[in-house]
Amino acid sequence: INAKTWSGRFNEPVTQLVQRYTASINFDKRLAEYDIQGSLAHARMLSSVGIINPADLAAIEQGLSQILEEIRNNRFEWHIELEDVHLNIEKRLTALIGDAGKRLHTARSRNDQVATDIRLYLRASIDEIANLIQSMQRALLDLAEQHIETVMPGFTHLQVAQPVSFGHHLMAYYEMLCRDIARLLDCRKRVNKLPLGAAALAGTSYSIDRDMVAQLLGFDGICLNSLDAVSDRDFAIEFCACSALIMTHLSRFSEELVIWMSPAFNFIQLADRFCTGSSIMPQKKNPDVPELVRGKTGRINGHLVALLTLMKSQPLAYNKDNQEDKEPLFDTVDTLVNTLRIYTDMLSGITVNKDAMRHAAMRGYATATDLADYLVKKGLPFRDAHEIVAKAVRFAENKSCDLSELSLAELKQFSSIIEQDIFSILTLEGSMKSRNHPGGTAPAQVSAAIMQARKDLSNH
Ligand code: ARG
Repeated sequence: INAKTWSGRFNEPVTQLVQRYTASINFDKRLAEYDIQGSLAHARMLSSVGIINPADLAAIEQGLSQILEEIRNNRFEWHIELEDVHLNIEKRLTALIGDAGKRLHTARSRNDQVATDIRLYLRASIDEIANLIQSMQRALLDLAEQHIETVMPGFTHLQVAQPVSFGHHLMAYYEMLCRDIARLLDCRKRVNKLPLGAAALAGTSYSIDRDMVAQLLGFDGICLNSLDAVSDRDFAIEFCACSALIMTHLSRFSEELVIWMSPAFNFIQLADRFCTGSSIMPQKKNPDVPELVRGKTGRINGHLVALLTLMKSQPLAYNKDNQEDKEPLFDTVDTLVNTLRIYTDMLSGITVNKDAMRHAAMRGYATATDLADYLVKKGLPFRDAHEIVAKAVRFAENKSCDLSELSLAELKQFSSIIEQDIFSILTLEGSMKSRNHPGGTAPAQVSAAIMQARKDLSNH
């Protein structure tokens, strides 16, 4: 295997270093199945319009299916001298079936071939990721369902703000993931167009049938401009942007898991299978998995910037720069797939310390707003009520107790319109139940949101 497919016009071979530098086979061989799918569709079209004869097509089909077998069984020999997945497969095909193999590349270039391969790969990856997000959503719903009535402190500025249902808090992530799926599926529409037929850049002089190839490969249509078809990777960039947002959501969640698991909070425990110990401190149980999700988000953001930068100064049409699109893209998919799988499993292994959550909400004057709202409902302007409650909080703080632990007489010092009925309002449950409108944290609303989510998921 030394005669390069294109070596005819060259006086000397490339150096070993250049060979390694320019070859992509070590990473693009994972496109092999898609490359074969694309070649099969192309060959069927060539035969259907009479560019190759039925005997050639039969030989190509048989040869490619043998190659697929070899690859699947790890018996295929990859050669770095053959640069990339496309030339490796074509060379093997020719070795197996002779001239018919050499005819396969009629009316095609590696430029439209590779663009097609990536789109097929990405389409399958998007479908897999969308499914994995849905599995994670189901795990979220299962956990949320057990904690519709569980009170936790809701935070702003990481300071205790108002009591919320833990189920409600989890459902916030469910919503983010819904948008993540919607973004992916929107991106999929632009991924799912056929570049083949663009050839190197200008199209081809053969009378090909691009619609037939699109249909055979399950594309929604063809790329309408040949220069654009071979040169742009915006669909991959878009996918990386969607992925960066998914990871950003998971990273925020991970940050919360880490905080909640810290002994200072002690809100949750992760199952041991997601944690590791310390080699020096025997007491430690570290939340490594969420920490790594947070860390890997940086790497996914990096891939997005890498692809944007790869594209930004390329003149039309294809440039070899684009070969560099693959590693960031593959790593984005792999990281996302593994993260989502692990997360789904991790959610089912979370144990919740309800007492610690409740205790934290009690300590933080989480119902102060409820006292202010109570005064407003009795006729005070909100700003005055705010001021009165601030003073009451200061008073309680000095006494080291919660607002609900003050006596009626003590509360009345701040406003005489406060009556006995305040005490049901100052409880955490009272506060939570009162936020009873769509989107609010009242358990009735959370429960309705979970039911709706289950319906939506089963309709997908
Ligand atoms: N390995 C190349 C890539 O990944 C395939 C296209 C090569 N085209 C070319 N004209 N050299 O982009």
